[in-house]
Amino acid sequence: MAKTLCGRSVSDFGIGTWGIGGRSSPETGNDKGDVEAIRYALDKGINVIDTAEMYASGHTEEIVGRAIKEYDREKLFIITKVWNTHLRYPDLLKSAEQSLKRLGVSYVDLYLIHWPNPSVPIAETISAMEKLVEKGLVRNIGVSNFNVKELQDSMDAAKTCEISANQIEYNYVKREAEVDIIPFCEYNKVDVIAYTPIMKGHIASNSPLKKLGQKYNATPIQIALNYVLKRSYPIPKSSRKNHIDELLGALDFRLSEQDFIELRDNRA
Ligand SMILES: NC(=O)c1ccc[n+]([C@@H]2O[C@H](COP(=O)([O-])OP(=O)(O)OC[C@H]3O[C@@H](n4cnc5c(N)ncnc54)[C@H](OP(=O)(O)O)[C@@H]3O)[C@@H](O)[C@H]2O)c1
Repeated sequence: MAKTLCGRSVSDFGIGTWGIGGRSSPETGNDKGDVEAIRYALDKGINVIDTAEMYASGHTEEIVGRAIKEYDREKLFIITKVWNTHLRYPDLLKSAEQSLKRLGVSYVDLYLIHWPNPSVPIAETISAMEKLVEKGLVRNIGVSNFNVKELQDSMDAAKTCEISANQIEYNYVKREAEVDIIPFCEYNKVDVIAYTPIMKGHIASNSPLKKLGQKYNATPIQIALNYVLKRSYPIPKSSRKNHIDELLGALDFRLSEQDFIELRDNRA
């Protein structure tokens, strides 16, 4: 399952970081273990890491920075996001520079607007994002949690860059995105990045996933991840080696077209 993000060949899924190093504020107690978990994923061939300035008020980016510093930067694909209270032109430039500093890198591969903010004109925000690309601090720009109208507005506002990706919640249980935003992204060649792709791990008892798991000799989580791989680029989060191994096991098989359809229509 070769995957691309922003036109670049990348690992079949990326690794998320929400909760690493804290949630709304920093928690430093497990930094060493978190760094090791990210390195474990990288050593297993995952080269995409998703983070955000908001996560643990910046501490998550610091942990990612520590984890990646011995790795070849050019082989990695780092995504980070600007929080939606920082979408004014000067605020966004400042946020990006601070993220780069915490990550210890000179550029990120993809910079996303974390959530829309209707009180800031989208043209102003996109113009700041384009400035970052011009300065070489960001390779691609995109959005997150944008509906069709918001995405269309951001695409209309973009003058020198494409809107390359929309990161949205998409998993086997939450599939509203299949109705409108995913088809819109597919039509417009905007990459769909799926967050919460394994429903936070709370799917062990999901009957259709369990049933199909028996056929493929796979766990419900592996079936769920395989399902979203079909139409998106998932970024599951895990800080445990055995869980990362289980996630990677989702790449050992591919759901047949018929099973995918049956699962989608809940007939599995
Ligand atoms: N753009 C946005 O607004 C937005 C919103 C939410 C999330 N995100 C991004 O998307 C990433 C993924 O989403 P998420 O963290 O919300 O949810 P998720 O990836 O669906 O689930 C993560 C949870 O599942 C557990 N887990 C992982 N592998 C498992 C396994 N094999 N068996 C059982 N449990 C397992 C993890 O615990 P362990 O660590 O203990 O394995 C963690 O608690 C985030 O980390 C973040 O980078 C973005």
